Amino acid sequence: HPLVVAVDGPSGSGKSSVSKAAARALRLAYLDTGAMYRALTWYCLDRGIDLKDAAAVENAAEELPLEQSTSPDAEFVKVGGVDVTEAIREPRISENVSAVATTLGARTELIRRQREQIEKHRNRMVVEGRDITTVVAPRAEVRLLLTASEEARLRRRGVQLGGTQSKEQLAQQVLERDKKDSTVVNFTRAADGVVTLDSSDLDFRQTVDAVLDIVHR
Ligand code: CDP
Repeated sequence: HPLVVAVDGPSGSGKSSVSKAAARALRLAYLDTGAMYRALTWYCLDRGIDLKDAAAVENAAEELPLEQSTSPDAEFVKVGGVDVTEAIREPRISENVSAVATTLGARTELIRRQREQIEKHRNRMVVEGRDITTVVAPRAEVRLLLTASEEARLRRRGVQLGGTQSKEQLAQQVLERDKKDSTVVNFTRAADGVVTLDSSDLDFRQTVDAVLDIVHR
């Protein structure tokens, strides 16, 4: 039977790790849509495409030779056969991804590919991003907004980046990106029918368990 679990949330809310663990527990496929926007950004930079040129970015989205794991156990992203799994997490990508993600034509193409993946997996998938509950899969069986206080989000992102950055640098990166992203997608407030899960005071395991509870109820 179909079970699409749509998870949205801001940067540092823990949605990637939590969604992956939930997919594993539920034996569902897993789609990290943020990785698609990151892969497109990598491709545009590699090709020297001007990110302010909307038509060029849209065209890049249409031709993007993307291969991505949809297993929660094996994470990889390839562009044109090049493994970019690590490269798409670099600061130069995080700094430029909002410019790409706010190009509406590029979004249309990536959303089309996301829906194609959901269908290909016979509607049995955890899909994670910013606009999944509202745009990509508004009819998903389970729709969740994973939130966390600003403090918790900055702390988590800091740990994830290995404690190499100052508090100010982190705040700059995380909050600036959320601000830019929110000009095209609203992931700060739950849409009608979307369950909000605030993970500020929950650890990883508790958050995963809370998600599984919501799926099973
Ligand atoms: O690093 P973080 O987990 O915050 O972000 P991500 O999930 O890897 O997404 C990277 C970027 O992709 C976001 O900052 C958005 O610009 C864009 N994105 C989007 O616009 N829509 C989505 N459904 C997912 C990501």
